[in-house]
Parts: sequence; structure tokens; C-alpha cells
Amino acid sequence: MEKIIILGITGGIAAYKAAGLARLFIRNKYPVQAVMTPAATRFITPLTLQTLTGRRVLIDVFDGERPDKVAHIDLAARAEALVVAPATGNTLGKFAAGIADNFLTTLFMALQCPVVLVPAMNERMYDSAAVQESLRLLRSRGYHLMEPGAGELACGIAGRGRMPEPDAIYTFVRHKIGKKDFSGIPVLVTAGPTREPLDPARFLSNASTGLMGYSLARAFAERGAKVILISGPVSLPPPLGVKLVPVVTAAEMYRAVLEYYPGCRVVVKTAAVADFRPSMAAPEKIKKEQAGLTLSLAPNPDILKKLGEEKGDRLLIGFAAETGQLVEKAKRKLAQKNLDLIVANDLTVPGAGFASPTNQVTLIDAAGRVEELPLMEKEALAHRLLDRIRERLTRG
Ligand code: CTP
Repeated sequence: MEKIIILGITGGIAAYKAAGLARLFIRNKYPVQAVMTPAATRFITPLTLQTLTGRRVLIDVFDGERPDKVAHIDLAARAEALVVAPATGNTLGKFAAGIADNFLTTLFMALQCPVVLVPAMNERMYDSAAVQESLRLLRSRGYHLMEPGAGELACGIAGRGRMPEPDAIYTFVRHKIGKKDFSGIPVLVTAGPTREPLDPARFLSNASTGLMGYSLARAFAERGAKVILISGPVSLPPPLGVKLVPVVTAAEMYRAVLEYYPGCRVVVKTAAVADFRPSMAAPEKIKKEQAGLTLSLAPNPDILKKLGEEKGDRLLIGFAAETGQLVEKAKRKLAQKNLDLIVANDLTVPGAGFASPTNQVTLIDAAGRVEELPLMEKEALAHRLLDRIRERLTRG
């Protein structure tokens, strides 16, 4: 039976953002059934949601009735999760009190799947005793509540009560509903580039954006791992539920990795560590009057090689960025660094490698098995890698 995400939309101005949220789920291959309260249809048309989801929107208690099925019971059985965004004070109150007077509130009563509620309303309404009491009750019954953000509200005043953006809601939901096959396992991920200072204004670095490493850290956290993310400078927000340790240089990354290494079971090194640093960082800005400039470089420590030397029973996964002879070079790195698995990508393949939302990689394990994966989004790839890592943890 196909599982479905039910997107509940209630009558608040933030209802327009529900369209973006529906799109995000669809784009990530989750089928979505939109359920709107009658008031929500005053803010956004059912046609918009129907077009985005490819399914007729359910509104009234008797919508979706088929002679052979009771619609809300049938839908409840197929629900992977219910996400109500925005959730008004009125609907939260009905959920808490057990009132079933439209399709959404009736469905809510019949559900056994995880439920994520995203309250959004004016700050004074949000702080009212009735709403706070509803939230307290719902939380104590195990429903997941997402905190509203602060900022300018539609009524013109600034305050708490804003509905978070679709991206944040999507991540929160994934976090709550995903399978937890890494539950409690301590994992270390490194990500991003390192920067090696040349003078106070300049540095040597590379094109890594950190996206692959952040996608992996997020996937691990979603699946229940305890994640430490040691990251060079990037412009990505840290994933939910991850401990971020920011570093700048390779030497800092080396120290941070060694500090957290003993407590970890799985280590994935996606970071594009600079192999060299300027031998001396000039204390003052280098001036262009200088006749010519020759850089003298010193090698940085190979962090992953060091980890391989002290591996114990940990799983060590490295990345290899190559330009040609991919499998051969990656196999050599895997052996040199004593890895269990290496993820090799050819930087010359379009859509693969640095600064791309997609990647195309080949996995090679210590037994010499080679698995070429198709071009895919880095987020999907992250989950695929986790599947492979999980298999190895079970075997080991
Ligand atoms: N790595 C590391 N420390 C370094 C260099 C690389 O930990 N100083 C790790 C990377 O995080 C990656 C793997 O080693 O997981 C391979 O990195 P890559 O840059 O592909 O290879 P290098 O070992 O640096 O070799 P080369 O640059 O000669 O290809």
C-alpha cells in the first residue's frame, strides 16, 4: 500500500506557504494528499493544491466518500505522517478537545501515524492561555510541535507566530518520520573546504561548498545518529540535531577530528582538505609593489591517513576527487588510508563534484567491489550511502 503524506492546511494567512511545502514533498517523491479546512480555502484555492499534488483536495467531512470505503478511515490507514501547516489556534483547540467537525479534524481523530503541527498566528493569539493550553496538551500526547519563528507578521506587527519556511518544515518532518536505523550511533562527518591563510586578507582554498557533507550529516541525524559535523567555512545552515564544530584551517580540522575520533563509530570524511598551506602567513597584507611573488608551501597533515592508522573497530569512509582513472586512483587511496569504503567522483563529469546539487559517484570497498551509482541529488545520494554504511555496521 502506497504511504502518503497528508498536508493539513487551516485558515491563516501563512496558508499560501503550504503550496511551497507541497511542492517540496512531491519533488522528494512523497505523494501528498492535501486536506483543507473550509477557512483555509479563503486564503488559497483548493485548485492550487489539487494541481500541485495531483489529488482532489478533501475539505468537508463527507468529501472523498466512496460506497466501499470510509474516506477518513481509509486515508488514516495510508498516512505516513500528517503535517498541519499552518495550524491555527482554532484547529489546535479542536485537536486538543477532540472536536471533529470537518475532514481534517475528523481525520486527526482516526490517525496513528506521526503528526507534525506548525502553529502560525498573531503573537497575542499564540500566547493566549487557550492556545498555550492546547499546545501543552497536544505535546504531552506525543504530537510534534514546531516552534513558530519571530519576525514581521502579516498583521503588521513584529513578534512570534510566523510560520517557518517550507524548507525548515520539510526538514523537521523528515527528522520526525524517517527510519531510525542509526539510532544512538556516534558519527563524525567532515565537510567543506579548509582555508590556508596567506596574509590577513587572503587565503588558499578550493571550490568545495560543503553540500555533500551537510547532506550526509543531515541524513545521519534524520536516521537517529549522534552527529558531530566538523566543517570548514561554508555558507550552509547547520542541519537540525547536529553538533557543528566550525574550523578554518586543515591544522584546526586535524585537531578537532582527533579530539572527537575516540568516541565515534563511523567517520565520513567529505572535507576537501587543502594539501598545502603557505609556509608562512604574512602578518601584514602583502603589497602589490612587491616585484614578484613566489609562494612557498608546506604540506598539511593527511587527516584521514592518520585516522586509518588508529582505526580500531570504526568504519572509515573517505571521498576521492579525481580527474580521470577514477577507480584505479580511488583504490590506491582506499588502501593507503586503510578505509572501509571510498566514494570516488570524477570532477570532469558534468553534474558531479564541487558546487553542484547533484553528484555521480562510484563506491569501492576494501574487498575491491565496485558499484557505480547514477547521477543523483546529493541528498538522495547521502541516504544511499547511509544504506551501504548501515549494511557494513550490521556485518561488522
Ligand atoms: N583528506 C584528509 N586530509 C588531507 C587530504 C585529504 O583527510 N590532508 C581526506 C579527504 O577528506 C578525503 C580523502 O582524504 O576523504 C581523499 O582526499 P583527496 O583530496 O581526493 O585526496 P588526497 O589524499 O589529498 O590526494 P591527492 O590530492 O593527491 O589526489
